[in-house]
Amino acid sequence: MTDSDRTPPNDQPDAGTLRAVVTGASSGIGAATVRRLRAEGWSVLAVARREDRLRALADDTGCEYCVADVTKAEDVDTLVSRAGAVHALVANAGGAVGVDPVADADPADWQAMYDVNVLGTLRVTQSLLPALRASGRGDVLIMSSTAGFVAYEGGGGYVAAKHGTHAIAATLRLELAGEPVRVIEIAPGMVKTDEFSVKRYRGDAAKAEAVYAGVDEPLTAVDVADAVVWALTRPHHVNVDLMVLRPLAQAAQHKVARRATT
Ligand SMILES: NC(=O)c1ccc[n+]([C@@H]2O[C@H](COP(=O)([O-])OP(=O)(O)OC[C@H]3O[C@@H](n4cnc5c(N)ncnc54)[C@H](OP(=O)(O)O)[C@@H]3O)[C@@H](O)[C@H]2O)c1
Repeated sequence: MTDSDRTPPNDQPDAGTLRAVVTGASSGIGAATVRRLRAEGWSVLAVARREDRLRALADDTGCEYCVADVTKAEDVDTLVSRAGAVHALVANAGGAVGVDPVADADPADWQAMYDVNVLGTLRVTQSLLPALRASGRGDVLIMSSTAGFVAYEGGGGYVAAKHGTHAIAATLRLELAGEPVRVIEIAPGMVKTDEFSVKRYRGDAAKAEAVYAGVDEPLTAVDVADAVVWALTRPHHVNVDLMVLRPLAQAAQHKVARRATT
């Protein structure tokens, strides 16, 4: 038998014994991730600020939920006490505010993006690390973005924040070398979720929709959740360091194939 004949060993325990915390779970990618993990049999604690959304998700999926703002230390303390023994953190809460050029951007928008995408991710990661280490097979999965690697006009504040999110993943992986905790980064390009662009354009639905105009099949929340679950369910010695996901129509940040629209 040669190496190429062997089935890779899969050291995944029964999913029913695994527990994940998913932040930003009240919509989009986070909610889809909760659904997928629950379908795989994981126990899940879903985290966000909107209780009505979390309650509906819990009714549908049987997940637990915790209402928490990841930028607030006291809320993160509550989250950690609710989490208990946990094997995976999906640090997904985040988003963009505005598309203003650097020359005109409001520092308050940049602050808000830094707070949730960087400091929120930092707080939750730091606070759950003891439990993840204690699990003996922990995962920190950080949702960054292609904005964490490439700048684009009008993207300054979000690009800056997601570079920070990427820096957490890249640094933490080095610092945890030799410990039983993987650090996985998923960097999506264009994902059409219900709220991301609407929030970015401060509720202007037409401008939000124009982002996806003429693009054949932007990624969906389900596509990204599929990648999250795939990465989490590799044998634990396999660390998917960084996965960049884009729709077929998006070859690069500025290279998006669009059909003519009327
Ligand atoms: N859509 C895209 O094109 C795209 C591309 C690349 C990366 N991403 C990243 O993927 C992640 C999810 O994006 P999405 O498209 O699914 O957007 P979304 O639907 O707007 O989801 C954002 C989630 O984060 C939660 N959240 C925001 N601020 C929070 C806070 N302070 N504390 C706790 N939860 C908070 C929101 O819930 P509450 O308001 O209820 O708290 C919501 O559940 C984000 O990090 C985003 O930057 C998105």
